[in-house]
Amino acid sequence: FSAFLTDSFGRRHSYLRISLTEKCNLRCQYCMPEEGVPLTPKAKLLTTEEILTLARLFVKEGVDKIRLTGGEPLIRPDVVDIVAQLHRLEGLRTIGVTTNGINLARLLPSLQKAGLSAINISLDTLVPAKFEFIVRRKGFHKVMEGIHKAIELGYNPVKVNCVVMRGLNEDELLNFVALTKGLPLDVRFIEYMPFDGNKWNFRKMVSYKEMLDTLRQQWPELEKLPEEESSTAKAFKIPGFRGQVSFITSMSEHFCGTCNRLRITADGNLKVCLFGNSEVSLRDHLRAGASEEELLRIIGAAVGRKKQQHAGMFNISQMKNRPMILIELFLMLQ
Ligand code: GTP
Ligand code: 5AD
Ligand code: SF4
Repeated sequence: FSAFLTDSFGRRHSYLRISLTEKCNLRCQYCMPEEGVPLTPKAKLLTTEEILTLARLFVKEGVDKIRLTGGEPLIRPDVVDIVAQLHRLEGLRTIGVTTNGINLARLLPSLQKAGLSAINISLDTLVPAKFEFIVRRKGFHKVMEGIHKAIELGYNPVKVNCVVMRGLNEDELLNFVALTKGLPLDVRFIEYMPFDGNKWNFRKMVSYKEMLDTLRQQWPELEKLPEEESSTAKAFKIPGFRGQVSFITSMSEHFCGTCNRLRITADGNLKVCLFGNSEVSLRDHLRAGASEEELLRIIGAAVGRKKQQHAGMFNISQMKNRPMILIELFLMLQ
């Protein structure tokens, strides 16, 4: 495996997440403010050719999984073409997309033909009116249609990402679990994470342990599945059900120790950690005519600086107006 993609703790980075756009057709409360986010001028965004050049380089060095993200990746007009071109890269085994599902039913047949192999869809509620409240737009039925289309086209499992927020959708956990009875879904309950300006509040976060308790009360036979290497999720199954449920415990039990991910932002920055803010612009180096070797050295240096675990969300000095008792509780949970 490439030394450039191996960090000082021996973690091999074989999973690359590429953001195709900063734009989104929804405004989920936990992600974006109502007015959207300030957008980078188009000239500073990676072109399709630049994305493919970088993807090719990473795959040559050992990346075998690429996930396209956003914003909402399916609003990039040439997303199908990007998937098709990635599909030609030898050594790339998985091409995934994480989408809000709005455009999925329409685009999936072509994405599948182009070589898309894995789909994660965000859905935080099964109640249409609540959906509109959370995402500040319409579209619940489109997302459901997208989920069913993915199942119909044979994706298995179809992963559903559900960010759990107290007072908002925590009462729906069992309804989400019920969906896995007959459908090949992996419903993933995600601990709510603080991001700039998303009004995160300790009280709104429902921990993995608490969610698991709720599920166990109804389903004592809930069975833990073996851990998949470098997965963000802890998976469980109710015997006899077609699908499974998982928990993404970014807050209470971080999974930095087995992290194998790197990210490229839509404007071409390499991020070695979701929470770190040390970024290096691959775009600028590409545009300055850097050779493959030079790019690899830059990438290798950034990977080499990767920290053992994230500090971003545990940075208590950033937690304004937080009563001490909550901070202590928070630390106990880790
Ligand atoms: P798979 O490739 O199917 O395993 O998906 P994924 O879980 O890696 O990615 P997805 O885009 O579906 O993201 C789901 C959730 O995973 C996000 O809400 C984040 O909470 C979490 N997540 C994804 N990547 C990272 C990461 O690098 N670090 C941390 N801490 N959390 C991440
Ligand atoms: N906390 C947890 N998960 C989040 N996502 C977006 N914002 C947050 C947050 N604050 C999830 C979305 C999407 C995935 C890529 O990230 O649900 O599925
Ligand atoms: Fe953010 Fe995804 Fe919601 Fe768009 S759909 S606002 S990118 S969480």
